Amino acid sequence: MQPVKVSAANKQEKYQEVTKQILAVIDGETNDVSKMATISCLLDQNFDSYFWTGFYMVDPLKPTELVVGPYQGTMGCLRIPFGRGVCGTAAETGETQVVADVHAFEGHIACDHRSQSEIVVPVFDASRKLIAVLDVDSDQKNSFDEIDKHYLEDLMTKAFAAV
Ligand code: SME
Repeated sequence: MQPVKVSAANKQEKYQEVTKQILAVIDGETNDVSKMATISCLLDQNFDSYFWTGFYMVDPLKPTELVVGPYQGTMGCLRIPFGRGVCGTAAETGETQVVADVHAFEGHIACDHRSQSEIVVPVFDASRKLIAVLDVDSDQKNSFDEIDKHYLEDLMTKAFAAV
């Protein structure tokens, strides 16, 4: 599939198409890392606005710390404690964070200075245990909105919490 430039007008349609594609590819797969790698790859290839796309996983040995998982993009920092930055806030609160301007977010962790806006979605397993967060950064301000939140939350539920 060729990547298509996403405008606000076709964003919903694009998410529906990409969600269908991802769910078909990971159907029956039980390994979370493999699913995360596949999701990072397909989201990144399909949305031009995505500059860094990937997962920070809850470290089973240090359960209040996130450790970098599969991603596409420039090098991300390895560890983020719960409560720090946008990812740590999403992990601690269990709520999606939509940040229009990362420079205005108290405690934002700048892994790459080109990052301007971001969305971070908590990822839960079927028992509602937090296993990771999905972090998507853009090199433009105001890249993410309620449409991204809705479809990325829906994708995370279908990919990791479906019973
Ligand atoms: N910006 C994130 C850190 C992760 S990187 O962007 C890859 C944050 O503040 O949580």
